[in-house]
Amino acid sequence: MLTTRVRYTPELNNFPNPSSNRRNNLFHYYKNPAYAAAADEAHRPDFPFVCSFEFTNRCNLDCVFCARQVMTRKLGYMDEPLLHKMMDEFAQHGTFLKVNGYGEPLLHPRALDFIRHIKKTNGLYFTTNATLIDERVAECFVEANLDVAQISFQGVDREGYESQRLLGEYDRLFDNVRTLVAVRGDNPYPYIHLSTTILDETTEQIEAFMEAAFDAGVDMVGVGRTDYDRVVADMVTDPDRKRLIERFRERQTLDQVSDHTYLYRYIDINYSGVVVSSFFDFNEFLPVGDMNTQSMHDIWNNSAALRALRILERRGGLNGYAEIRDAVRALDQAGHGETMSVFDTFYHAWKLGGKSYNT
Ligand SMILES: C[S@@+](CC[C@H](N)C(=O)[O-])C[C@H]1O[C@@H](n2cnc3c(N)ncnc32)[C@H](O)[C@@H]1O
Ligand code: SF4
Repeated sequence: MLTTRVRYTPELNNFPNPSSNRRNNLFHYYKNPAYAAAADEAHRPDFPFVCSFEFTNRCNLDCVFCARQVMTRKLGYMDEPLLHKMMDEFAQHGTFLKVNGYGEPLLHPRALDFIRHIKKTNGLYFTTNATLIDERVAECFVEANLDVAQISFQGVDREGYESQRLLGEYDRLFDNVRTLVAVRGDNPYPYIHLSTTILDETTEQIEAFMEAAFDAGVDMVGVGRTDYDRVVADMVTDPDRKRLIERFRERQTLDQVSDHTYLYRYIDINYSGVVVSSFFDFNEFLPVGDMNTQSMHDIWNNSAALRALRILERRGGLNGYAEIRDAVRALDQAGHGETMSVFDTFYHAWKLGGKSYNT
């Protein structure tokens, strides 16, 4: 029988390596009592706790679970003046930043300069598929004191990884993690968080994976739920891909936990500067603002679309749609332009995606 240092339990998402004494600054930041309290409108801060950037929506993998495969918005890269404009504002608020979105951020030609610039003033959690981590990238992470490098895995073994992260190679991922660990040496940063999501894998398989990850030197393993419903079914056109998605979808076993608190804590900014309510709005169905022309403070506090989503959340999710529509219509009449039509489009895709609009 396998002896493990850490036991897997589906109630937990994250499993720290008992041999690591490094600190996860994002999790530390979450300990702020105001963060825990910000679960509703009454306790909403006047600036988001965490802002997520998308450096690019281009990618070098083709993951079967990722909504990117049905994304129809234009492809591109965030430009430098926009990043600088945003950082001028975020630096004043001490906002913890995340790099995430629907693409591989290390594909951005200025990715390392962007990381250095952000890290001059703010905390940063950087999500990557790790395919492009080499010594140069690892040195940048270490020298910039990148707070957390989140490396995305899939499933718990070679088969799970390579069958779902198409074009990804299991050996390359672990080689690149080892490079990062070696370059980091005894430096405190980055905290390395290896994140995976699972379907129906057994506890023994998951624990063996955690052991392998700890042995490779990662500080934490995250184990979440793979949500194939995020790939809006009606938007998949290729029949072979549809069948493949369906086969994986049938293997979903973990319970979905509904949580809309992100509407009071986080916001997502796409590479173009368009702001969406969350990572789940992969196609900009409901833009809530534009960082090229607005401040985040203005968007967070005054966006009619964001207000509508928060009202929807308070009224009990989709049941409140009619009331939301009325609220949005009233906002439209008060001069908020196109909000009504984008809200309808968003609602349509949301409904098609079933329960996918959850964290
Ligand atoms: C969309 S990716 C972007 C960053 C980078 N390309 C990567 O893969 O890490 C961000 C994270 O979302 C996760 N993700 C995407 N679609 C998901 C889904 N349907 N269910 C669970 N996690 C998902 C990925 O595993 C990854 O950790
Ligand atoms: S999960 Fe990440 S690596 Fe995979 S397709 Fe989506 S953006 Fe690309």
